Amino acid sequence: MSSQESLVSAEPLLELLNVESAYGPIKALRGVSLKVRRGEIATVLGSNGAGKTTILKTISGILEPRKGSVSFRGRAITAQDPATIVQQGLSHVPEGREVFPLLSVRDNLLMGAYTRSDRDGVARDLETVFGYFPILRERAGQDAGLLSGGQQQMLAISRALMASPDLILLDEPSLGLSPKLTKEIFEIVVRINREHGTTLLRGEQNANMALNAADYGYVLENGRIVMEDTCPRLREKDDIREFYLGMKDAGQRGERRWKKKKHWR
Ligand SMILES: Nc1ncnc2c1ncn2[C@@H]1O[C@H](COP(=O)(O)OP(=O)(O)OP(=O)(O)O)[C@@H](O)[C@H]1O
Ligand SMILES: [Mg+2]
Repeated sequence: MSSQESLVSAEPLLELLNVESAYGPIKALRGVSLKVRRGEIATVLGSNGAGKTTILKTISGILEPRKGSVSFRGRAITAQDPATIVQQGLSHVPEGREVFPLLSVRDNLLMGAYTRSDRDGVARDLETVFGYFPILRERAGQDAGLLSGGQQQMLAISRALMASPDLILLDEPSLGLSPKLTKEIFEIVVRINREHGTTLLRGEQNANMALNAADYGYVLENGRIVMEDTCPRLREKDDIREFYLGMKDAGQRGERRWKKKKHWR
């Protein structure tokens, strides 16, 4: 993926500066700063409770930060209403998918495009998402609640695409899916980025997959970014290899998920 780096613009599409967010007395983010450049896939890696979901909720306006700022396309969007943020081209696929179960697959997709008035563009994007996920075309008339978990994840990603956003926030899209489906979703997210030009920021616990399917990564621990770099470079770091990818010996490919480590060098 490093060959793609040159295609990524230097201008940040999204920027967080010293963001602190809390749930009552529980501090979830303790001064997070990060950038997502136009055209890239960025990933926030971290274990359960690290604050991945909280970062994404703070960006999309679901949660108001106590301190710090969020800017999108150079303009402050801190604590704006989520609907206003979507209209500016930033879509959020929340944790646990959340489709409208009693609406058809097609109507779920059209709900994603409800703010758009370009009917031709909507029809074209519907074809695009059916191209990425043919199963959604097959099931277009069926209630979304009858889809499998993996198919609902495909629908949730597709619904976000139907808004024709500049940036999509993806919260652990592979959670609870089989290894095969996980791989498929990772590959399609990369295709959406490379073919459609959509910028993506995804929260992930599955470091091994995420580092192979993103350009830039942030490692989050207890609400703080403890490391950041391009994904090829993160894959080479000893800390990441040993404690994150579970590769003690070079050459032994680990499939383990994040292992807790007390201190980062
Ligand atoms: N609604 C809430 N009320 C109180 N505390 C919360 C709430 N949501 C999250 N937290 C706490 O905030 C911290 C960060 O949680 P967050 O959901 O952002 O983590 P995460 O990295 O997404 O974890 P996971 O991988 O399990 O989804 C955790 O300590 C969590 O217990
Ligand atoms: Mg989460």
